[in-house]
This record gives sequence, C-alpha cells and structure tokens, in this order.
Amino acid sequence: MAKSRITPAYTTRLGRAFHGDAADVLSHFADESVSLVFTSPPFALRRQKAYGNVAADEYIDWFWPIVEQIQRILRPDGSFVMELGGAWNRGSGTRSLFPYELLIRLGKVFYLAQDFYWHNPSRLPTPAEWVTIRRTRVKEAVTHIWWLSKTTEPQADNRRVLVPYSKSMKRLLKDGYEPAMRPSQHEIGPHFQRDNGGAIPPNVLTVPNTRSYDEYLFKCREAGLPIHHARFPPELPDFFIRFLTSPGQLVIDPFAGSNTTGQVAEGLERKWASVEINADYVAGSRLRFGTSKEAA
Ligand SMILES: C[S@@+](CC[C@H](N)C(=O)[O-])C[C@H]1O[C@@H](n2cnc3c(N)ncnc32)[C@H](O)[C@@H]1O
Repeated sequence: MAKSRITPAYTTRLGRAFHGDAADVLSHFADESVSLVFTSPPFALRRQKAYGNVAADEYIDWFWPIVEQIQRILRPDGSFVMELGGAWNRGSGTRSLFPYELLIRLGKVFYLAQDFYWHNPSRLPTPAEWVTIRRTRVKEAVTHIWWLSKTTEPQADNRRVLVPYSKSMKRLLKDGYEPAMRPSQHEIGPHFQRDNGGAIPPNVLTVPNTRSYDEYLFKCREAGLPIHHARFPPELPDFFIRFLTSPGQLVIDPFAGSNTTGQVAEGLERKWASVEINADYVAGSRLRFGTSKEAA
C-alpha cells in the first residue's frame, strides 16, 4: 500500500522529479499504477575491489527493496526494463558473471520477456590492456537491456517501433517476387510482399553514444552544475516507451541521473516520475525542461 504524499523537487506538465532514495520514494506510489519502469541502475561492482559472491550479495541486498517496490507498483501488464553494463574481473581479461547472477534472482519475481543488446559502435576499446596491448580480446560493444515483465503478456506493440525497410526489401515491395523456398527451407509466401510501413526491429539496438551537442550539457555548464557522465542516449528510452506504453500512461525512472527518461516521456505525451539521490543531478535535470513554469 502506498504511503503519504511526498513533495517533488520540480514538476512539469506531465512529470514529477523527486530528490531522494529510490526505495523510499517508490514506496509512496500506489500499487499497480505504473506501466513502465525504465532505468539504468548504478553498477556497484565497478567500485568493488574484486568480484566475488560477497560483492554480488551486497549489491542484491541493496537493490532488492527497490525491486520489491517496482514489483508492487507495476500494473499487471507493466514492464521493468533495465540497462546494466557488464564488467570485467579486475586484473584479468575475464568477464564478471554478476549480471547473470542478478538476472537469475530477478527471474524469481519477474518474467524475462526478452533480452536486448544496446550496440554502441562509439565505445572505446576496453579492457584496453587486453584489447589494444595484448590483443587477446576484441572490443566490447554491447550492454544488456533486460525487459522484465510481471506477467507473461505485458503490454507491447512492435508496430510502434518499426524501422525503415532495407534497400532490398524496398525493391522487393516495389518489384514483387515469386514465392519460393529459402535455403533454410522456410517458404516465403505472398504475405511478405505487404508493405507494413517498416520492418520489425531486432533486439540489437544500435545507437552511438556520442553527443557533443546536447542542450543539457550546455545548460549545466552555464549553471555551474556537474554534467552527468553516464547518460544514456534518448533513443533508448524512446524505443521502450513507444514499444511498451501508450500516451497518458505512467513511466518511472528510479535512478534517473540527468533524467533522460523523463524528458523523452514528456515528449511522447506519457506521464513520468523520476528519482535521483544526488541533488546536483536533480538540479541539472531540471534544466532539460526550460526555466518557465514547466519546471517549477
Ligand atoms: C547510471 S546513472 C543513470 C543515468 C541516467 N540513465 C541518465 O540518462 O542520465 C544511475 C544514477 O542512480 C543514482 N542513484 C544511486 N543510488 C540511488 C538511490 N538509492 N536512489 C536514487 N538514485 C540513486 C546515481 O546518483 C546515478 O545518477
């Protein structure tokens, strides 16, 4: 059951930004009131000395009260989408299994509707020692995005996230073709010739994260506020908000940072709420919404 009301740090036409701890702020939201939780939580292991069960357990102990709140406030057809960067075990060219351990735990309270990969072609070659010096690993270019759901039938519609057809598909739609058997033995029927307005996207989202021009960045500099360095590109929340919600529904980012999610949600006519524990980041995020009554 939700607790009493709390005061947002600022509000906009459709959103409320809270300064505080995610577990506490989420406890004020009503049961089954949220359509989408979209977030990128801090990845504690980067700060840990070395990967081991203790570090993973500590992280899960810290994260779990927030997971329980997310479970409670999501609508039965709601989704919890989280981006979690992978990590390398310190001092060795081997990968931490922690994200998988966390996913297994999350799988006890959510379904894994689908896993996505954010392919960021502009990522630096890491871990540098193994990639560029020893040359025994290749460039790390994807992070996991897990789409978790409360039930087996979360609200979703891939027609809202169609991508432009490839050149060959456009040609095929224009010129037509003879139904035939493919080398894979799949028969390609005439329905393939229907123009659906775009192609169904894959679960690899290719989005470079190189924003040298970004209004948020300039406004923070102008105001003397710290720039959040772990911002995700707006294309990521944009994809999942359109795919998994309808206008007017509520989207929450409990680890909002610079509040990319809130800004995108506002643009897509969704209600939103954000939570961020660092007051400077909250102040910077307010600048995304102008200085008028919008972010009062
Ligand atoms: C990876 S960043 C999110 C960046 C965000 N996606 C963006 O585009 O700007 C994670 C954020 O979670 C915040 N955070 C850490 N612990 C928190 C907590 N208990 N409650 C709320 N926010 C927290 C951190 O200060 C950090 O800004």
